[in-house]
Amino acid sequence: MAPVGDLQNARCIFVVGGPGSGKGTQCDRIVEKYGFTHLSTGDLLRAEVASGSDRGKELTAIMEKGDLVPLDTVLAMLRDAMVAKLATSKGFLIDGYPRELDQGKRFENDVAPVSCVLYFEVSDETMTARLLKRAETSGRVDDNEETIKKRLKTFHNLTQPVIDYYASQGKTNAIKAEGTVDEIFAKVQEVLDK
Ligand code: AP5
Repeated sequence: MAPVGDLQNARCIFVVGGPGSGKGTQCDRIVEKYGFTHLSTGDLLRAEVASGSDRGKELTAIMEKGDLVPLDTVLAMLRDAMVAKLATSKGFLIDGYPRELDQGKRFENDVAPVSCVLYFEVSDETMTARLLKRAETSGRVDDNEETIKKRLKTFHNLTQPVIDYYASQGKTNAIKAEGTVDEIFAKVQEVLDK
């Protein structure tokens, strides 16, 4: 495994947006075209839950409530996953992180600088409709009306300051993401090709 120090030179893009804003869907398209390494903190946390560990049980309780998992837990998981992929990665797409300002600052301090933030901007109504549709088949503990409301609240209260902070550094690229997957990906390409 590569040493953590080598991460300093890794190219990192943060991908943020509310629940159901299409982060994962667009990351799949980005990976297909640009070959980056996609790491979703939600997926990393669900993998820990699936392992059946005691920590996994604690994580489920937090995710069911639509709250944020403690920063140190998420950052350690993310860093381990990056170290494991560093040797073969052309750059990292970090999906669902940072979700609060301290997560961004700690990442840049302890792991690597971020070059760009992709923010998928979608109305609460659209996000809710997408997640309720997905709930028909996803089996996710947090895809239900009550938790979706809480996830939206967490997003507006805690993640919006992240978007504003990186916008003040000229790094946030807001993408209106209400259209079809193809239409949105066309806008993503305009940003990444710059
Ligand atoms: P996470 O798994 O990251 O969930 P989320 O951010 O709430 O968002 P989703 O993954 O559900 O949606 P998405 O934006 O990726 O959209 P998707 O492409 O899937 O996090 C879950 C929980 O883990 C958090 O609540 C928190 O507790 C914890 N957590 C995670 N990261 C953390 C962190 N950094 N710190 C602390 N805690 C953390 O699309 C959604 C649906 O819409 C799909 O069905 C898709 O097919 C559909 N869709 C997508 N695009 C379109 C489109 N253009 N038109 C129509 N439908 C579309």
